[in-house]
Amino acid sequence: MTLVTTSRHPTAQEEMRARVLAAELGVPYVPRRGSLDDLDAEAVLVVTRERLVVHTPAGEIFFHPGMARPRVRELERGKPDVMVQAMGLRPGDTVLDCTLGLGSDAIVASFVVGGQGRVVGLEAVPVLAAVVRWGLQNYDPDHDGLRDAMRRIEVVRADHEAYLSTLPAASFDIVYFDPMFREPVMESAHMRPWRALACHQPLSRATIAAACRVARRRVVVKERSGSPVFAELGLTEVVGGRKSRIAYGVLDAAGMGAPA
Ligand SMILES: C[S@@+](CC[C@H](N)C(=O)[O-])C[C@H]1O[C@@H](n2cnc3c(N)ncnc32)[C@H](O)[C@@H]1O
Repeated sequence: MTLVTTSRHPTAQEEMRARVLAAELGVPYVPRRGSLDDLDAEAVLVVTRERLVVHTPAGEIFFHPGMARPRVRELERGKPDVMVQAMGLRPGDTVLDCTLGLGSDAIVASFVVGGQGRVVGLEAVPVLAAVVRWGLQNYDPDHDGLRDAMRRIEVVRADHEAYLSTLPAASFDIVYFDPMFREPVMESAHMRPWRALACHQPLSRATIAAACRVARRRVVVKERSGSPVFAELGLTEVVGGRKSRIAYGVLDAAGMGAPA
């Protein structure tokens, strides 16, 4: 069960934001009384003046740009980014990120495609979508390019399987997936609460086929290097992974019959 509440001494505005958010999520709003531990819930979304935090028994979830910050700095210095290379990303491109998570990959993509491009991010878990939407719109990374890239991302709370079926053919240049790995690369403490709430549905060949219909140029899937998932999904071209634990499986539009 998920609940929404506020900090201990909320302003009228915070209380209103919490009520609106609870209504949007279709979950109860509970006026804050004492400790969050007294609320018997799988997740408590706490609205404060500065941020949105999800309290779970496994720890807290809140927005931060994570690796997007050093990756954008490297791009600014002219260094390559393996995801950007795997996507063949260019300014002005449109990207559908089917597994938004905390949005780090989407921020990097948004930075590269710029104001003439477009990045739409899908997140299936409502409470996670709420946190990332809030963060992308409100978190100040103290870096103009990063801030602009974050603000441009369109967050949609949706399951990608359902959403892909609503889109016209060839409507995005790149369709991207970074599903929850079967075995996490690093079981870092800060990822534990996210893993507890995230959608762990594995990608299927049917989802890749749906993505191929929507992608004008490429479908890209992030996985562990050497993962059997690439072959299972029919992704024969793999980019990166020689020195890294991460690799990207790529399907080109030319190879999947979609217009280039
Ligand atoms: C590994 S995380 C993505 C991390 C992200 N690329 C980043 O840079 O922060 C995967 C996310 O995709 C979401 N997800 C998994 N299956 C999904 C689906 N079918 N539709 C939409 N989101 C999904 C999970 O809930 C999780 O938040």
